[in-house]
Amino acid sequence: MSQRGITMNSTLKEVYETPIGHDILARILLQLGIPEKVLRNPASAGIKLSVLAKLAKKVLSEQFWQTFLRLVNREQDAPASLYTPMHEAWWKEAVFYQIYPRSFCDSDQDGTGDLRGIIAKLDYLKDLGVDAVWLSPIYDSPLDDNGYDIRDYHKILPQFGTMEDFDELLEGIHARGMKLIMDLVVNHTSDEHEWFQQALKDPSSKYRNYYFFENDEEGEYPNNWTSNFSGPAWNHYEDEKLYALHLFSTKQMDLNWENPDVREDVIAMIRWWLEKGVDGFRMDVINYISKEEGLPDGDPFVGNLMGYTGIEHYYYGPHLHEYLKEIREKAFDAYGAFSIGETPGLGIQMARLVTGEERKELDMIFSFDHLETPGHVRFEDYRYDLNAFRDNMDTWMTQYGNNCWPTVFYNNHDNPRMVSKIDPEGKYSESLAILLAVIQMTLRGTPFIYQGDEMGLVNVPFRSMEDITDVESVNKYEELLADHEPAEAFRIILAGTRDHARVLLPWNDNAPEWAGQNVNEAVTSAYKELISLRHQHRALVYGHYEVLDRSRNRYVYRRYDDHESFIIDCNLSDQPVRAYTDLSGYTLIRPHRYTELNVLQPYEVRIWYKK
Ligand code: NOJ
Repeated sequence: MSQRGITMNSTLKEVYETPIGHDILARILLQLGIPEKVLRNPASAGIKLSVLAKLAKKVLSEQFWQTFLRLVNREQDAPASLYTPMHEAWWKEAVFYQIYPRSFCDSDQDGTGDLRGIIAKLDYLKDLGVDAVWLSPIYDSPLDDNGYDIRDYHKILPQFGTMEDFDELLEGIHARGMKLIMDLVVNHTSDEHEWFQQALKDPSSKYRNYYFFENDEEGEYPNNWTSNFSGPAWNHYEDEKLYALHLFSTKQMDLNWENPDVREDVIAMIRWWLEKGVDGFRMDVINYISKEEGLPDGDPFVGNLMGYTGIEHYYYGPHLHEYLKEIREKAFDAYGAFSIGETPGLGIQMARLVTGEERKELDMIFSFDHLETPGHVRFEDYRYDLNAFRDNMDTWMTQYGNNCWPTVFYNNHDNPRMVSKIDPEGKYSESLAILLAVIQMTLRGTPFIYQGDEMGLVNVPFRSMEDITDVESVNKYEELLADHEPAEAFRIILAGTRDHARVLLPWNDNAPEWAGQNVNEAVTSAYKELISLRHQHRALVYGHYEVLDRSRNRYVYRRYDDHESFIIDCNLSDQPVRAYTDLSGYTLIRPHRYTELNVLQPYEVRIWYKK
């Protein structure tokens, strides 16, 4: 049916057939632990929204339904067919490696990683098999959020080095046949950026309209939105009698993308870097750049579901497609540059609309739904369930479409290490790291390795809040103290803190000893071997994907084309399972040794090959 005209008289089935309705319902069901297939059952699929509204009157307000209908009806487009021809691209074949510069390699022993440290490790990256590097922000910044608060987009943070160091780094990367993508943080700037400084001080400045300022007349926050880093999403400037919006820390001020001058300045800045020769950008929270006009209050139910009040008014905003197309057309396309969006909260149908290649918005996105078991949140001490991971991957492998291309990753600078989420005691860290690596290098989708994955790194045994520096964790801890004992609050922080992924890598002489991080050579050599396998076999990149067994604790799939075929047999549990046996004509290429042919040991994974 057409995406227009969903009303309270429409049925769940009709809503589910619209891209946004699909993603919202899928998310709600997932969080409630209800299988999506209930929507294929005629009895439940036929329920009208008005009936549901009556049933859920206590949790879902009228305002919720208004916002819901607006979101669902706003999207006029439908994703292309799943079966359009697939096109090749360098970034589909590449293996990416994310560097978090502060903790990667410290060349001058001042306690912080730097550009010369990265230059010193380029041969290591090449040897590992890396094709492209994503560099987290290296721009000038007061470091309230470790550089995701940019003060000057055209300057390198002195702690990291100089522009000459950067030029040498870029040259070194290109000389080795690799590519470099930078972090583009343009949903917000630092409050120390000169645009914000001028805007705040001078009411007649053109920069006033670069941000979201509201007059403080009533002495109340302009709306009920909460920041992603705790507390209200508004700073109060008493002297100026103003409020200003920040979806992240109190020093990360949201830019007003409605203003064409903002877009023009951002586009000019992107072109400046592309002119230098960088190959593309990872775009920070790029789906947040378009906010609902009037910045209306957020719905408490949605706030609870998604973690932040107000998010429904900016995570898939009214002009998102327009702005993405504009950046692409005016900056990226002229340089053949690559783009990947960081897009928290987007479901698969929304993702199909922002990455469908014919639509010319983004090349790829990072979806985060697989980073926690549904029903759980990052700041929670629980065991991650690989069964849910398998189901999520299977959906993206089969439902995303040939005109879109997935990413496959487990870690980044915003998350504890995946191996520790699955196995907190660390009994199976090595087998798990290798299992994850095999899946990452053999699924359809571009692998993004986060620094340290290839070393088999696990979570860090932080001793107290004194070891934790991340703004998100520090704010959250303060917030938790309102109704938790300090020890309990620390335990919660320990479960989810981003600092697990941010301590100096173990190859630095000055890495903190208490962090207990060690390089696991077996994991590193597995990564090398697997990356090289992916590079040698097109079937692992462009080949078909077919799932052979997805029963509990099992993930067996085939990747194949006209010339060759791989069967990947995974044990997703810490118990032995019977191995997959329908393998006539296949030879085992990994592991090189096994205990029992018919049994997979805990987290064991096998790769079988047939020509
Ligand atoms: C996402 C980044 O990955 C994260 O590190 C940062 O804190 C927020 N965006 C705000 O820029």
